[in-house]
Amino acid sequence: MSETIVQLEDVSVFQRENLILNEINLEVKKGEFVYVIGKTGSGKSSFMKTLYADLPLKQGKGKIVDFDLKTMQEKDIPFLRRKLGIVFQDFKLLLDRNINNNLKFVLKATGWTDSGKMENKIEEVLEKVGMKTKGFKFPHELSGGEQQRVAIARALLNDPELILADEPTGNLDPQTSVEVMKVLQEINENGRTIIMATHDYALILKYPHKTLKCDGSKIFEVIQKAI
Ligand SMILES: Nc1ncnc2c1ncn2[C@@H]1O[C@H](COP(=O)(O)OP(=O)(O)OP(=O)(O)O)[C@@H](O)[C@H]1O
Ligand SMILES: [Mg+2]
Repeated sequence: MSETIVQLEDVSVFQRENLILNEINLEVKKGEFVYVIGKTGSGKSSFMKTLYADLPLKQGKGKIVDFDLKTMQEKDIPFLRRKLGIVFQDFKLLLDRNINNNLKFVLKATGWTDSGKMENKIEEVLEKVGMKTKGFKFPHELSGGEQQRVAIARALLNDPELILADEPTGNLDPQTSVEVMKVLQEINENGRTIIMATHDYALILKYPHKTLKCDGSKIFEVIQKAI
């Protein structure tokens, strides 16, 4: 039997006191690639935030990797985040340091101390996203697509069990979006589980995967033709 990475039962998602989504029942298994679609304001980011415990789970049951979203404490959040790779629309690279040092900063912050091991890991993740020769560059010296590939490399540093990507191609042109998508696709083919919120229907059609739609406070699976 394949391993369950995310399990939600009757979950409701709130922003402050406002109910955004309810009756969410969902299971994501290891190795799956799942899209989350829906129009602006439908709750995609709120859903993703619930998964990485940026929004507390107030109602329902939720398990993600080895963590129980309902009972976990504030102090557990960094440990959950270490098992996740999170990618945002706006890259969120540190602008005052080069790519190698951006990645080193994350490794140090997550407990790495050995310089040689850190260098090897940085080289490994940059290689995975096709950016091995660009580690000396500063974020402003890279294109948007390259910056996003670095952000994906950063998400891979701690060998996450799950990658959560919230509109990772939202700031990119169609061709660059496809390049970034190819990187995510390859990571998924190597066995990594990915949940990706997106508006980009062209990408979904080009790279079909299980698709969940947020609409009218609900989240439900749709088949490609119905999108
Ligand atoms: N920090 C917040 N505080 C209060 N309400 C919020 C907050 N963030 C989002 N909301 C509300 O929650 C609802 C869902 O927003 P969310 O950002 O999850 O939508 P989305 O599907 O990700 O939209 P988009 O496609 O624009 O990114 C919206 O009505 C929004 O106004
Ligand atoms: Mg959003």
